[in-house]
Amino acid sequence: MIAPSILSADFARLAEEAAAVQDADWLHVDVMDAHFVPNLTLGLPVVESLRKATEIPLDCHLMIENPDRWAIGYAEAGAHNVTVHVEAAEDPVAIAKNLRAAGSQAGLSIKPGTPFEPYVELLQHYDTLLVMSVEPGFGGQRFMPEVLDKVRVARRLVDAGELRVLVEIDGGIGADTIEQAAEAGVDCFVAGSAIYGAEDPAAALTALRASAAAARG
Ligand code: DX5
Ligand code: ZN
Repeated sequence: MIAPSILSADFARLAEEAAAVQDADWLHVDVMDAHFVPNLTLGLPVVESLRKATEIPLDCHLMIENPDRWAIGYAEAGAHNVTVHVEAAEDPVAIAKNLRAAGSQAGLSIKPGTPFEPYVELLQHYDTLLVMSVEPGFGGQRFMPEVLDKVRVARRLVDAGELRVLVEIDGGIGADTIEQAAEAGVDCFVAGSAIYGAEDPAAALTALRASAAAARG
């Protein structure tokens, strides 16, 4: 699966930018609050409008403090998947239950420096695991290959039937990095600058999908 990140799109033309990647599996929406990360992007009103402007399932990545309070709104707005950061969540089990009750999938994200193993139990309540491969906050950063060890462990647990999550990766994914991520066992690839920075976003998406599929075998 490929999830283009609209962080690298033109925010004044979001409906057209979504239409430019019609073939996307998910549309990745980065919500930043200038507290959990040192950057500010968009919030609920934009997601509500975007939901009406595209059929592509929305994958909302909340890089915010107090997701216990705010995550539910994104599920109610019709997001397909709502991901919160384990570093910010007070009661991640309650968040997942509330998201699912509101009709959304629940995602849990870990920053590059956050280990994976302590959260295996917790992930039983979640549908997706979002492994950050850059420090969250900005698009266009360099991919951190060391996070692939976490992907490999997650992949093993999923394949062994001990965990049921979709493994998603976010940050620095492009033509030169997607194959190693696919080999490590990623299911869903977020790509911002590699898609919206390309002359032809739809063609870039197709090429990334082909590379990932070939590498995954
Ligand atoms: C970064 C965001 C990413 C960002 C990725 O904090 O979570 O989703 O859009 O951008 P690229 O693909 O350019 O690294
Ligand atoms: Zn993101």
